[in-house]
Amino acid sequence: MSAVLIRHLQEYIGQKVEVEGWLHQKRSSGKIQFLQIRDGSGFVQGVLVKEEVDPEVFENAGHLTQESSIHLIGEVKKDDRAPSGVELLIKDIALIHPSHEYPITPKEHGVDFLLDHRHLWIRAPRQRAILKIRAEIIKAIRSFLDSREFTQVDPPVLTPSSCEGTTNLFNTKYFDQDAYLTQSGQLYMEAAAMALGKVYSFGPAFRAEKSKTRRHLIEFWMIEPEMTFVTHEDNLAIQEALIEHVVNHVLTHCKMELITLGRDISKLESIKAPFPRMSYDEAIQFLKDNGHEIEWGEDFGAPHETALAAQFDRPVFIEKYPTTIKAFYMKPDPDRPEVVLCADLLAPEGYGEIIGGSARIDDPELLLQRFEEHQLSKEDYAWYLDLREYGSVPHAGFGLGLERTIAWICGLEHVRETIPFPRLLYRLYP
Ligand code: 4AD
Ligand code: MG
Repeated sequence: MSAVLIRHLQEYIGQKVEVEGWLHQKRSSGKIQFLQIRDGSGFVQGVLVKEEVDPEVFENAGHLTQESSIHLIGEVKKDDRAPSGVELLIKDIALIHPSHEYPITPKEHGVDFLLDHRHLWIRAPRQRAILKIRAEIIKAIRSFLDSREFTQVDPPVLTPSSCEGTTNLFNTKYFDQDAYLTQSGQLYMEAAAMALGKVYSFGPAFRAEKSKTRRHLIEFWMIEPEMTFVTHEDNLAIQEALIEHVVNHVLTHCKMELITLGRDISKLESIKAPFPRMSYDEAIQFLKDNGHEIEWGEDFGAPHETALAAQFDRPVFIEKYPTTIKAFYMKPDPDRPEVVLCADLLAPEGYGEIIGGSARIDDPELLLQRFEEHQLSKEDYAWYLDLREYGSVPHAGFGLGLERTIAWICGLEHVRETIPFPRLLYRLYP
């Protein structure tokens, strides 16, 4: 007999099975002990009745401590009240390894304490649920893009120059040269798009930002699709279809996890394309009308984004920002060159920008002009300028921030719980 995963116990009702896992929690009423058992695939309640087992088994179970690893033999019983639909009537328990004074107890702990013990905290039901949803979101993004004939391309992590400005670059040595950890794979994805048409990358990005907010990580993961021969409108259409698909996938495959997290599922059920669109101009007017102090030409802060998003029950695109506050590579609107063909997608419920994207400058002369304005070195980016020399084409793309998307879908207060081992302003451990 080999062990059955807790997730599959429902298929074994009435049968004797083996389960291998850990003791999550325990309570006793003298003659009956209730053991909450977890094995990574799920949680199940084990019931140990004094009169039905060997006295030694009952006695030893009484001494089991939280997070001891155990091997059990028991009978699977249907239990409609249990989230797993079953419970395990335990016949025998063997200790694999004891656990001594597990630091995370059922009482409340402070966030710093939990983050110091992140390697153990991820065993908790909430954290497990988040990591499961993270994996499903990644799966959904890949299946969406793969089924639309995008090719995955992996850009480098160590780079000789910046993509999103030089203020938040992580510097390192590359033998006797300077190198930086990537902020975004976009420029490389533009090269890849010229080779493969529709491409996407999925990898870590690094920003040495001295910001300590609920939306910022120092190391985060980004999905960056890049497409040739598409318009700004096409770019937005694919983004809203992607987000709708991801939310649907989570609703279908992660109901239990959303319930564990206490997520208001009705809020996710209303996420249907098309998403509303507001121009930057309209957004500024809206903010002014609602008592915010902001002028045309300024970038939005978190309170502005929250106010803008609060008007809608689904994400909203804010389009066509002033050229002066956006990246050098963004294509100007031909009708109004003071704004660019870009959009930020703001999630509902105050989660902020989950996607940033734009059409890219395809005109070689204009790109050179931007290089001058932004004081970028033509030598450092010679390869990027080449892309406009050898058959430049209209193209566009975007970057989806994985952790902010997870925080929104899971309804979490802070992005730090969305990544297995968060890198924060004052945290590199564990
Ligand atoms: O808006 P950003 O900076 O855009 C780019 O990097 C483009 N090159 C992407 C592209 O067009 N290929 O970042 C994209 C997204 C943001 O919308 C946000 O969701 C996320 O990445 N992001 C962060 N997430 C967590 N912590 C941070 N410090 C983040 N910075 C950006
Ligand atoms: Mg952005």
